[in-house]
Amino acid sequence: MENIVLEARNITKYFPGILANDHINFDLYSKEVHTLLGENGAGKTTLVNIFDGLYYPNEGEVYVNGKIANINSPLDAMKFGIGMIHQHFMLVDTLTVVENVVLGFQKQGFRLDNNSIVKKIQEISEQYNLKVNPYAKIWQLSVGEQQRVEIIKMLYRGANILILDEPTAVLTPQEIDSLFLIINKIKSDGKSVIFISHKLEEVLKVSDRITVLKKGKVVGTVNKEHATEKELALMMVGREVLFRFDRKPTADGKDILKIENLEGYNDRGVKRLKGVNLTVKSGEIFGIAGVAGNGQEELAESITGLRKSSKGKIFIGSCESTNLLPSRILKKGVNYIPADRIRTGLIPNLSSVDNAILRCYMRKPISNTFTVNFTKAKDYANKIITEFNIMVPRLDAPVKLLSGGNMQKLLLAREILEEPILLIAVHPTRGLDIGATELVRKKLIEARDKGAAVLLISEDLDEIIMLSDRIGVIYDGKIVGLVDSKNAQINNIGLMMGGSKNLNVQKG
Ligand SMILES: Nc1ncnc2c1ncn2[C@@H]1O[C@H](COP(=O)(O)OP(=O)(O)O)[C@@H](O)[C@H]1O
Ligand SMILES: [Mg+2]
Repeated sequence: MENIVLEARNITKYFPGILANDHINFDLYSKEVHTLLGENGAGKTTLVNIFDGLYYPNEGEVYVNGKIANINSPLDAMKFGIGMIHQHFMLVDTLTVVENVVLGFQKQGFRLDNNSIVKKIQEISEQYNLKVNPYAKIWQLSVGEQQRVEIIKMLYRGANILILDEPTAVLTPQEIDSLFLIINKIKSDGKSVIFISHKLEEVLKVSDRITVLKKGKVVGTVNKEHATEKELALMMVGREVLFRFDRKPTADGKDILKIENLEGYNDRGVKRLKGVNLTVKSGEIFGIAGVAGNGQEELAESITGLRKSSKGKIFIGSCESTNLLPSRILKKGVNYIPADRIRTGLIPNLSSVDNAILRCYMRKPISNTFTVNFTKAKDYANKIITEFNIMVPRLDAPVKLLSGGNMQKLLLAREILEEPILLIAVHPTRGLDIGATELVRKKLIEARDKGAAVLLISEDLDEIIMLSDRIGVIYDGKIVGLVDSKNAQINNIGLMMGGSKNLNVQKG
Protein backbone atom coordinates (compact mmCIF):
# COMPACT_ATOMS: atom_id res chain seq x y z
CA MET A 1 0.00 0.00 0.00
CA GLU A 2 1.05 3.63 -0.32
CA ASN A 3 3.00 5.00 2.58
CA ILE A 4 1.48 7.42 4.99
CA VAL A 5 3.33 10.75 4.99
CA LEU A 6 1.22 12.57 7.55
CA GLU A 7 -1.04 11.33 10.26
CA ALA A 8 -3.16 12.91 12.96
CA ARG A 9 -3.93 10.64 15.89
CA ASN A 10 -6.68 11.63 18.27
CA ILE A 11 -6.17 15.34 17.78
CA THR A 12 -8.25 17.46 20.11
CA LYS A 13 -8.22 21.25 20.22
CA TYR A 14 -10.30 23.48 22.46
CA PHE A 15 -10.94 27.17 22.16
CA PRO A 16 -12.74 28.99 24.94
CA GLY A 17 -16.23 27.49 24.89
CA ILE A 18 -15.66 25.46 21.72
CA LEU A 19 -14.34 22.02 20.95
CA ALA A 20 -12.94 22.77 17.48
CA ASN A 21 -11.30 19.36 16.92
CA ASP A 22 -12.65 16.36 18.79
CA HIS A 23 -10.34 13.31 18.69
CA ILE A 24 -9.63 13.53 14.99
CA ASN A 25 -7.88 10.76 13.11
CA PHE A 26 -6.67 11.60 9.64
CA ASP A 27 -3.96 10.27 7.34
CA LEU A 28 -2.40 11.36 4.09
CA TYR A 29 -0.66 9.07 1.61
CA SER A 30 2.15 10.06 -0.67
CA LYS A 31 0.92 11.08 -4.13
CA GLU A 32 -2.53 11.75 -2.84
CA VAL A 33 -5.03 14.59 -2.71
CA HIS A 34 -6.95 14.14 0.51
CA THR A 35 -9.80 16.61 0.94
CA LEU A 36 -11.21 17.93 4.19
CA LEU A 37 -14.85 18.66 3.58
CA GLY A 38 -17.17 20.30 6.03
CA GLU A 39 -19.42 23.24 6.71
CA ASN A 40 -18.15 26.52 8.11
CA GLY A 41 -16.98 25.97 11.64
CA ALA A 42 -16.52 22.21 11.23
CA GLY A 43 -12.89 22.46 12.33
CA LYS A 44 -11.01 22.13 9.02
CA THR A 45 -8.81 25.19 9.37
CA THR A 46 -8.07 24.37 13.00
CA LEU A 47 -6.79 20.91 12.06
CA VAL A 48 -4.52 22.15 9.29
CA ASN A 49 -3.31 25.01 11.47
CA ILE A 50 -2.13 22.30 13.84
CA PHE A 51 -0.25 20.62 10.97
CA ASP A 52 1.28 24.00 10.16
CA GLY A 53 2.36 24.64 13.75
CA LEU A 54 0.11 27.67 14.27
CA TYR A 55 -1.91 25.88 16.95
CA TYR A 56 -0.76 23.22 19.35
CA PRO A 57 -3.25 20.44 20.08
CA ASN A 58 -4.59 19.88 23.61
CA GLU A 59 -4.48 16.14 23.01
CA GLY A 60 -3.18 13.81 20.34
CA GLU A 61 -0.14 13.70 18.11
CA VAL A 62 0.93 14.44 14.59
CA TYR A 63 3.17 11.92 12.80
CA VAL A 64 5.26 12.74 9.77
CA ASN A 65 6.68 9.80 7.84
CA GLY A 66 5.86 7.49 10.73
CA LYS A 67 7.62 9.54 13.38
CA ILE A 68 6.04 11.73 15.99
CA ALA A 69 6.44 15.37 14.97
CA ASN A 70 6.52 18.24 17.39
CA ILE A 71 5.45 21.17 15.26
CA ASN A 72 5.61 24.50 17.04
CA SER A 73 5.66 27.01 14.22
CA PRO A 74 5.24 27.24 10.44
CA LEU A 75 9.02 27.26 10.22
CA ASP A 76 9.04 23.95 12.11
CA ALA A 77 6.36 22.65 9.78
CA MET A 78 8.53 23.51 6.82
CA LYS A 79 11.33 21.41 8.35
CA PHE A 80 8.91 18.49 8.13
CA GLY A 81 8.12 19.44 4.53
CA ILE A 82 4.70 20.88 5.34
CA GLY A 83 3.70 24.10 3.60
CA MET A 84 0.35 25.79 3.98
CA ILE A 85 -1.45 28.25 1.74
CA HIS A 86 -3.89 30.14 3.89
CA GLN A 87 -7.32 31.46 2.98
CA HIS A 88 -5.99 34.96 3.38
CA PHE A 89 -2.69 35.19 1.60
CA MET A 90 0.42 35.99 3.55
CA LEU A 91 2.17 38.11 0.91
CA VAL A 92 3.61 41.60 1.20
CA ASP A 93 1.84 43.76 -1.38
CA THR A 94 4.63 46.22 -2.04
CA LEU A 95 7.34 43.59 -2.62
CA THR A 96 8.00 41.61 -5.77
CA VAL A 97 7.28 37.94 -6.33
CA VAL A 98 10.97 37.08 -5.84
CA GLU A 99 11.20 39.08 -2.63
CA ASN A 100 8.10 37.39 -1.26
CA VAL A 101 9.38 33.94 -2.08
CA VAL A 102 12.61 34.42 -0.12
CA LEU A 103 11.24 36.69 2.60
CA GLY A 104 12.01 35.24 6.02
CA PHE A 105 13.55 32.17 4.47
CA GLN A 106 16.97 33.30 3.24
CA LYS A 107 19.70 32.34 5.66
CA GLN A 108 21.29 35.28 7.42
CA GLY A 109 24.76 36.24 6.39
CA PHE A 110 24.19 35.21 2.79
CA ARG A 111 23.76 37.88 0.20
CA LEU A 112 20.67 37.48 -1.93
CA ASP A 113 21.86 35.87 -5.11
CA ASN A 114 19.07 37.21 -7.23
CA ASN A 115 19.93 35.40 -10.42
CA SER A 116 19.93 31.94 -8.96
CA ILE A 117 16.76 32.61 -7.00
CA VAL A 118 14.98 33.87 -10.09
CA LYS A 119 16.22 30.86 -12.01
CA LYS A 120 14.89 28.47 -9.42
CA ILE A 121 11.54 30.27 -9.31
CA GLN A 122 11.31 30.05 -13.07
CA GLU A 123 12.08 26.34 -12.96
CA ILE A 124 9.36 25.69 -10.41
CA SER A 125 6.99 27.87 -12.32
CA GLU A 126 7.59 25.94 -15.53
CA GLN A 127 7.56 22.51 -13.95
CA TYR A 128 4.18 23.05 -12.33
CA ASN A 129 2.61 25.43 -14.80
CA LEU A 130 2.57 28.22 -12.23
CA LYS A 131 2.74 31.16 -14.60
CA VAL A 132 3.75 34.42 -12.96
CA ASN A 133 6.17 37.27 -13.60
CA PRO A 134 8.92 37.06 -10.92
CA TYR A 135 9.54 40.81 -11.04
CA ALA A 136 5.93 41.90 -10.63
CA LYS A 137 4.87 43.51 -7.36
CA ILE A 138 2.20 41.54 -5.53
CA TRP A 139 -0.37 44.34 -5.73
CA GLN A 140 -0.14 44.21 -9.51
CA LEU A 141 -1.24 40.58 -9.61
CA SER A 142 -4.71 39.10 -9.77
CA VAL A 143 -5.90 36.96 -6.90
CA GLY A 144 -5.27 33.83 -8.94
CA GLU A 145 -1.68 34.90 -9.63
CA GLN A 146 -1.08 35.73 -5.97
CA GLN A 147 -2.19 32.25 -5.10
CA ARG A 148 0.35 30.86 -7.55
CA VAL A 149 3.04 32.90 -5.81
CA GLU A 150 2.05 31.29 -2.51
CA ILE A 151 2.35 27.85 -4.06
CA ILE A 152 5.72 28.69 -5.62
CA LYS A 153 6.88 30.01 -2.25
CA MET A 154 6.06 26.71 -0.55
CA LEU A 155 7.57 24.56 -3.31
CA TYR A 156 10.70 26.75 -3.30
CA ARG A 157 11.05 26.06 0.40
CA GLY A 158 10.84 22.35 -0.26
CA ALA A 159 7.30 21.46 0.73
CA ASN A 160 6.31 17.84 0.15
CA ILE A 161 2.96 18.19 1.79
CA LEU A 162 0.98 21.12 0.52
CA ILE A 163 -2.07 22.34 2.40
CA LEU A 164 -4.53 24.50 0.49
CA ASP A 165 -7.24 26.03 2.70
CA GLU A 166 -10.25 26.83 0.52
CA PRO A 167 -8.12 27.89 -2.43
CA THR A 168 -11.00 28.03 -4.89
CA ALA A 169 -13.19 30.41 -2.91
CA VAL A 170 -11.51 33.40 -4.53
CA LEU A 171 -11.02 32.03 -8.07
CA THR A 172 -12.92 32.20 -11.35
CA PRO A 173 -14.01 28.92 -13.00
CA GLN A 174 -11.08 29.12 -15.41
CA GLU A 175 -8.59 29.77 -12.60
CA ILE A 176 -10.05 26.81 -10.70
CA ASP A 177 -9.43 24.55 -13.69
CA SER A 178 -5.81 25.64 -13.91
CA LEU A 179 -5.35 25.21 -10.15
CA PHE A 180 -6.56 21.63 -10.49
CA LEU A 181 -4.01 21.00 -13.25
CA ILE A 182 -1.33 22.39 -10.94
CA ILE A 183 -2.49 20.15 -8.09
CA ASN A 184 -2.35 17.12 -10.37
CA LYS A 185 1.19 18.02 -11.43
CA ILE A 186 2.25 18.38 -7.81
CA LYS A 187 0.74 15.00 -7.05
CA SER A 188 2.33 13.23 -9.99
CA ASP A 189 5.65 14.67 -8.85
CA GLY A 190 5.34 12.51 -5.71
CA LYS A 191 4.02 15.14 -3.33
CA SER A 192 0.80 15.10 -1.32
CA VAL A 193 -1.94 17.66 -1.00
CA ILE A 194 -4.52 18.41 1.67
CA PHE A 195 -7.30 20.29 -0.07
CA ILE A 196 -10.08 22.10 1.73
CA SER A 197 -13.36 23.04 0.15
CA HIS A 198 -17.06 22.75 0.62
CA LYS A 199 -17.98 22.69 -3.04
CA LEU A 200 -18.94 19.12 -3.77
CA GLU A 201 -18.49 19.23 -7.50
CA GLU A 202 -14.89 20.36 -7.29
CA VAL A 203 -14.12 18.07 -4.39
CA LEU A 204 -15.18 15.11 -6.51
CA LYS A 205 -13.05 16.42 -9.36
CA VAL A 206 -9.76 16.85 -7.57
CA SER A 207 -9.67 14.43 -4.61
CA ASP A 208 -8.50 10.87 -4.18
CA ARG A 209 -10.05 10.57 -0.74
CA ILE A 210 -12.45 12.79 1.15
CA THR A 211 -12.78 13.10 4.91
CA VAL A 212 -15.91 14.82 6.13
CA LEU A 213 -15.79 16.83 9.34
CA LYS A 214 -18.80 17.98 11.27
CA LYS A 215 -18.75 19.97 14.50
CA GLY A 216 -15.13 19.04 15.13
CA LYS A 217 -15.56 15.30 14.55
CA VAL A 218 -14.75 13.02 11.64
CA VAL A 219 -17.99 11.79 10.08
CA GLY A 220 -16.16 9.43 7.74
CA THR A 221 -13.57 9.03 5.01
CA VAL A 222 -14.60 7.92 1.51
CA ASN A 223 -12.76 7.14 -1.68
CA LYS A 224 -13.59 9.40 -4.59
CA GLU A 225 -14.77 6.43 -6.68
CA HIS A 226 -17.43 5.57 -4.12
CA ALA A 227 -18.62 9.10 -3.39
CA THR A 228 -21.60 11.01 -4.75
CA GLU A 229 -22.59 14.63 -4.26
CA LYS A 230 -25.76 13.63 -2.51
CA GLU A 231 -24.06 11.32 -0.05
CA LEU A 232 -21.31 13.84 0.75
CA ALA A 233 -23.90 16.57 1.32
CA LEU A 234 -25.76 14.31 3.68
CA MET A 235 -22.57 13.48 5.62
CA MET A 236 -21.64 17.12 5.80
CA VAL A 237 -24.96 18.67 6.76
CA GLY A 238 -26.62 15.70 8.43
CA ARG A 239 -29.82 16.08 6.43
CA GLU A 240 -31.00 16.22 2.81
CA VAL A 241 -30.02 19.40 1.02
CA LEU A 242 -32.18 21.23 -1.51
CA PHE A 243 -30.41 21.75 -4.77
CA ARG A 244 -33.55 23.30 -6.28
CA PHE A 245 -36.08 25.71 -4.89
CA ASP A 246 -39.82 25.87 -5.33
CA ARG A 247 -40.95 29.34 -6.15
CA LYS A 248 -44.03 31.28 -7.03
CA PRO A 249 -44.36 32.74 -10.51
CA THR A 250 -43.12 36.31 -10.80
CA ALA A 251 -45.54 38.98 -9.68
CA ASP A 252 -46.29 41.60 -12.28
CA GLY A 253 -44.35 44.16 -10.35
CA LYS A 254 -43.74 47.87 -10.54
CA ASP A 255 -40.42 49.27 -11.70
CA ILE A 256 -38.39 49.79 -8.52
CA LEU A 257 -34.86 50.33 -9.80
CA LYS A 258 -34.29 51.98 -13.12
CA ILE A 259 -30.83 52.72 -14.43
CA GLU A 260 -30.24 54.78 -17.56
CA ASN A 261 -26.94 55.07 -19.36
CA LEU A 262 -24.94 54.93 -16.15
CA GLU A 263 -21.23 55.62 -16.36
CA GLY A 264 -18.56 55.65 -13.68
CA TYR A 265 -14.96 55.06 -12.72
CA ASN A 266 -13.17 52.71 -10.34
CA ASP A 267 -10.75 53.79 -7.60
CA ARG A 268 -7.84 53.92 -10.00
CA GLY A 269 -9.65 56.26 -12.36
CA VAL A 270 -10.40 53.61 -14.95
CA LYS A 271 -13.82 53.81 -16.57
CA ARG A 272 -15.72 50.73 -15.43
CA LEU A 273 -19.36 51.56 -16.16
CA LYS A 274 -19.88 52.50 -19.78
CA GLY A 275 -23.60 53.03 -20.15
CA VAL A 276 -25.54 50.55 -18.04
CA ASN A 277 -29.28 50.25 -18.66
CA LEU A 278 -31.52 48.03 -16.61
CA THR A 279 -34.78 47.84 -14.70
CA VAL A 280 -35.62 45.71 -11.69
CA LYS A 281 -39.25 45.23 -10.71
CA SER A 282 -40.82 44.49 -7.37
CA GLY A 283 -41.24 40.77 -6.76
CA GLU A 284 -38.43 39.70 -9.05
CA ILE A 285 -34.82 38.71 -8.74
CA PHE A 286 -32.76 40.29 -11.45
CA GLY A 287 -29.44 38.50 -11.74
CA ILE A 288 -26.30 40.06 -13.14
CA ALA A 289 -24.02 37.47 -14.64
CA GLY A 290 -20.46 38.30 -15.54
CA VAL A 291 -16.81 37.56 -15.05
CA ALA A 292 -15.24 39.45 -12.12
CA GLY A 293 -14.10 42.97 -12.89
CA ASN A 294 -16.59 43.93 -15.58
CA GLY A 295 -18.17 46.66 -13.48
CA GLN A 296 -20.34 44.63 -11.11
CA GLU A 297 -19.04 46.07 -7.86
CA GLU A 298 -18.92 49.62 -9.21
CA LEU A 299 -22.54 49.22 -10.27
CA ALA A 300 -23.64 48.09 -6.81
CA GLU A 301 -21.70 50.92 -5.20
CA SER A 302 -23.21 53.51 -7.54
CA ILE A 303 -26.72 52.39 -6.74
CA THR A 304 -26.10 52.50 -2.99
CA GLY A 305 -24.40 55.90 -3.19
CA LEU A 306 -20.96 54.65 -2.14
CA ARG A 307 -19.50 55.63 -5.50
CA LYS A 308 -20.20 58.72 -7.58
CA SER A 309 -21.39 58.07 -11.10
CA SER A 310 -20.10 60.39 -13.81
CA LYS A 311 -23.05 60.24 -16.18
CA GLY A 312 -26.51 58.74 -16.48
CA LYS A 313 -29.37 58.38 -14.04
CA ILE A 314 -30.56 56.06 -11.30
CA PHE A 315 -34.19 56.02 -10.15
CA ILE A 316 -35.44 54.25 -7.07
CA GLY A 317 -39.22 54.11 -7.11
CA SER A 318 -40.23 57.26 -8.93
CA CYS A 319 -37.48 59.51 -7.54
CA GLU A 320 -34.08 60.08 -8.97
CA SER A 321 -31.34 58.98 -6.60
CA THR A 322 -28.20 59.51 -8.69
CA ASN A 323 -25.27 60.46 -6.45
CA LEU A 324 -27.34 60.95 -3.32
CA LEU A 325 -25.66 60.26 0.02
CA PRO A 326 -25.73 56.58 1.02
CA SER A 327 -27.76 57.39 4.13
CA ARG A 328 -30.48 58.99 2.02
CA ILE A 329 -30.56 56.05 -0.34
CA LEU A 330 -30.85 53.58 2.53
CA LYS A 331 -33.81 55.56 3.84
CA LYS A 332 -35.67 54.80 0.62
CA GLY A 333 -35.84 51.17 1.66
CA VAL A 334 -32.65 50.02 -0.01
CA ASN A 335 -30.64 47.33 1.72
CA TYR A 336 -27.23 46.12 0.72
CA ILE A 337 -25.19 42.97 1.09
CA PRO A 338 -21.76 44.07 -0.13
CA ALA A 339 -19.10 41.82 -1.63
CA ASP A 340 -16.73 42.66 1.18
CA ARG A 341 -18.62 41.66 4.28
CA ILE A 342 -15.77 42.24 6.67
CA ARG A 343 -14.87 45.78 5.68
CA THR A 344 -18.11 47.23 4.33
CA GLY A 345 -20.79 44.99 5.74
CA LEU A 346 -19.96 44.55 9.39
CA ILE A 347 -17.93 46.29 12.07
CA PRO A 348 -15.42 43.57 13.00
CA ASN A 349 -14.63 44.78 16.52
CA LEU A 350 -18.23 45.22 17.60
CA SER A 351 -20.29 42.38 19.03
CA SER A 352 -22.94 40.34 17.26
CA VAL A 353 -25.59 42.32 19.10
CA ASP A 354 -24.19 45.69 18.00
CA ASN A 355 -23.83 44.52 14.43
CA ALA A 356 -27.32 43.05 14.41
CA ILE A 357 -28.95 46.33 15.45
CA LEU A 358 -26.91 48.66 13.21
CA ARG A 359 -29.92 49.39 11.02
CA CYS A 360 -32.55 49.66 13.71
CA TYR A 361 -30.89 50.94 16.86
CA MET A 362 -32.54 54.32 16.45
CA ARG A 363 -36.04 52.86 16.32
CA LYS A 364 -38.56 51.20 18.55
CA PRO A 365 -38.43 48.67 20.07
CA ILE A 366 -34.63 48.80 20.28
CA SER A 367 -34.55 52.41 21.38
CA ASN A 368 -36.73 55.30 22.35
CA THR A 369 -34.53 57.49 20.05
CA PHE A 370 -32.38 58.57 23.00
CA THR A 371 -31.15 55.39 24.58
CA VAL A 372 -30.74 51.85 23.39
CA ASN A 373 -32.58 49.24 25.41
CA PHE A 374 -29.92 46.56 25.73
CA THR A 375 -32.31 43.82 26.75
CA LYS A 376 -34.39 44.46 23.63
CA ALA A 377 -31.23 44.61 21.52
CA LYS A 378 -30.13 41.27 22.90
CA ASP A 379 -33.56 39.75 22.26
CA TYR A 380 -33.42 40.98 18.70
CA ALA A 381 -29.95 39.52 18.17
CA ASN A 382 -31.06 36.22 19.69
CA LYS A 383 -34.04 36.11 17.37
CA ILE A 384 -31.80 36.65 14.33
CA ILE A 385 -29.32 34.06 15.52
CA THR A 386 -31.99 31.42 15.92
CA GLU A 387 -33.88 32.17 12.72
CA PHE A 388 -30.75 32.25 10.58
CA ASN A 389 -28.96 29.47 12.40
CA ILE A 390 -25.90 31.58 13.19
CA MET A 391 -23.18 30.12 15.38
CA VAL A 392 -21.63 32.68 17.71
CA PRO A 393 -19.22 31.95 20.55
CA ARG A 394 -20.91 34.55 22.79
CA LEU A 395 -23.32 37.35 21.99
CA ASP A 396 -20.87 39.97 23.22
CA ALA A 397 -17.85 38.59 21.36
CA PRO A 398 -16.60 40.71 18.45
CA VAL A 399 -17.98 39.49 15.12
CA LYS A 400 -14.49 39.15 13.71
CA LEU A 401 -14.31 35.88 15.66
CA LEU A 402 -17.20 34.42 13.67
CA SER A 403 -16.53 32.22 10.65
CA GLY A 404 -17.16 33.73 7.21
CA GLY A 405 -20.45 31.94 6.75
CA ASN A 406 -21.77 33.04 10.09
CA MET A 407 -20.75 36.64 9.41
CA GLN A 408 -22.57 36.51 6.09
CA LYS A 409 -25.71 35.11 7.67
CA LEU A 410 -25.68 37.85 10.29
CA LEU A 411 -25.26 40.52 7.64
CA LEU A 412 -28.00 39.04 5.48
CA ALA A 413 -30.35 38.71 8.43
CA ARG A 414 -29.84 42.32 9.42
CA GLU A 415 -30.50 43.59 5.89
CA ILE A 416 -33.38 41.28 4.99
CA LEU A 417 -35.30 41.78 8.23
CA GLU A 418 -35.61 45.45 7.31
CA GLU A 419 -38.05 44.27 4.62
CA PRO A 420 -36.32 46.16 1.84
CA ILE A 421 -38.05 47.60 -1.19
CA LEU A 422 -34.82 47.08 -3.08
CA LEU A 423 -32.23 44.56 -1.97
CA ILE A 424 -28.81 44.53 -3.56
CA ALA A 425 -26.86 41.35 -2.93
CA VAL A 426 -23.31 41.02 -4.20
CA HIS A 427 -21.74 37.53 -4.18
CA PRO A 428 -24.05 36.63 -1.29
CA THR A 429 -22.89 33.01 -1.04
CA ARG A 430 -19.23 33.37 -1.97
CA GLY A 431 -17.14 31.21 0.32
CA LEU A 432 -20.16 29.76 2.14
CA ASP A 433 -20.81 26.09 2.82
CA ILE A 434 -23.83 24.23 1.50
CA GLY A 435 -26.01 24.75 4.54
CA ALA A 436 -25.36 28.48 4.68
CA THR A 437 -25.66 28.84 0.91
CA GLU A 438 -29.01 27.11 0.93
CA LEU A 439 -30.26 29.35 3.71
CA VAL A 440 -29.06 32.56 2.04
CA ARG A 441 -30.69 31.56 -1.25
CA LYS A 442 -33.95 30.64 0.45
CA LYS A 443 -34.02 34.00 2.23
CA LEU A 444 -33.40 35.89 -1.01
CA ILE A 445 -36.34 34.09 -2.60
CA GLU A 446 -38.46 34.83 0.47
CA ALA A 447 -37.62 38.52 0.15
CA ARG A 448 -38.65 38.41 -3.51
CA ASP A 449 -41.87 36.59 -2.67
CA LYS A 450 -42.68 39.32 -0.17
CA GLY A 451 -42.38 41.84 -2.99
CA ALA A 452 -38.81 43.12 -2.79
CA ALA A 453 -36.97 43.96 -5.98
CA VAL A 454 -33.74 42.00 -5.70
CA LEU A 455 -30.63 42.80 -7.69
CA LEU A 456 -28.37 39.77 -7.43
CA ILE A 457 -24.79 40.13 -8.55
CA SER A 458 -22.84 36.89 -8.57
CA GLU A 459 -19.99 35.23 -10.41
CA ASP A 460 -21.61 31.87 -9.78
CA LEU A 461 -23.59 31.31 -12.96
CA ASP A 462 -25.46 28.33 -11.54
CA GLU A 463 -26.63 30.53 -8.71
CA ILE A 464 -27.75 33.28 -11.09
CA ILE A 465 -29.73 30.81 -13.16
CA MET A 466 -31.18 29.06 -10.12
CA LEU A 467 -32.44 32.23 -8.44
CA SER A 468 -33.12 34.86 -11.07
CA ASP A 469 -36.32 35.65 -12.89
CA ARG A 470 -34.43 37.67 -15.46
CA ILE A 471 -30.73 37.78 -16.15
CA GLY A 472 -28.61 40.61 -17.48
CA VAL A 473 -25.11 39.80 -18.65
CA ILE A 474 -22.53 42.46 -17.88
CA TYR A 475 -19.44 42.79 -20.00
CA ASP A 476 -17.01 45.66 -20.08
CA GLY A 477 -19.28 48.01 -18.18
CA LYS A 478 -22.45 47.37 -20.17
CA ILE A 479 -25.39 45.02 -20.01
CA VAL A 480 -24.78 43.14 -23.26
CA GLY A 481 -27.75 40.81 -23.13
CA LEU A 482 -31.02 40.18 -21.30
CA VAL A 483 -32.29 36.67 -20.80
CA ASP A 484 -35.44 35.26 -19.26
CA SER A 485 -34.21 32.63 -16.84
CA LYS A 486 -36.89 30.15 -17.91
CA ASN A 487 -35.22 29.68 -21.26
CA ALA A 488 -31.70 30.61 -20.28
CA GLN A 489 -28.99 28.68 -22.03
CA ILE A 490 -25.77 28.44 -20.11
CA ASN A 491 -23.71 28.35 -23.28
CA ASN A 492 -25.12 31.58 -24.61
CA ILE A 493 -24.73 33.37 -21.31
CA GLY A 494 -21.17 32.08 -21.06
CA LEU A 495 -20.36 33.43 -24.51
CA MET A 496 -21.83 36.83 -23.69
CA MET A 497 -19.85 36.89 -20.45
CA GLY A 498 -16.77 36.47 -22.56
CA GLY A 499 -17.74 39.38 -24.81
CA SER A 500 -19.07 37.45 -27.80
CA LYS A 501 -21.32 39.49 -30.03
CA ASN A 502 -23.90 38.53 -32.67
CA LEU A 503 -25.92 36.39 -30.31
CA ASN A 504 -29.58 36.13 -30.87
CA VAL A 505 -30.85 37.54 -27.59
CA GLN A 506 -32.97 40.40 -26.38
CA LYS A 507 -30.85 43.47 -25.91
CA GLY A 508 -30.89 45.39 -22.62
N1 LIG B 1 -8.46 31.32 17.26
C1 LIG B 1 -9.70 30.93 17.60
N2 LIG B 1 -10.26 31.33 18.76
C2 LIG B 1 -11.49 30.93 19.13
N3 LIG B 1 -12.26 30.12 18.40
C3 LIG B 1 -11.77 29.68 17.23
C4 LIG B 1 -10.47 30.06 16.76
N4 LIG B 1 -10.25 29.46 15.56
C5 LIG B 1 -11.37 28.76 15.29
N5 LIG B 1 -12.28 28.89 16.29
C6 LIG B 1 -13.60 28.22 16.36
O1 LIG B 1 -13.40 26.84 16.16
C7 LIG B 1 -14.44 26.29 15.34
C8 LIG B 1 -13.81 25.65 14.11
O2 LIG B 1 -13.33 26.67 13.27
P1 LIG B 1 -12.51 26.40 11.94
O3 LIG B 1 -11.49 25.37 12.19
O4 LIG B 1 -12.05 27.71 11.44
O5 LIG B 1 -13.65 25.83 10.99
P2 LIG B 1 -13.68 25.63 9.41
O6 LIG B 1 -12.33 25.93 8.86
O7 LIG B 1 -14.11 24.22 9.21
O8 LIG B 1 -14.72 26.60 8.91
C9 LIG B 1 -15.37 27.44 15.01
O9 LIG B 1 -16.45 27.40 15.89
C10 LIG B 1 -14.51 28.67 15.24
O10 LIG B 1 -15.30 29.78 15.58
MG1 LIG C 1 -11.77 27.37 7.49
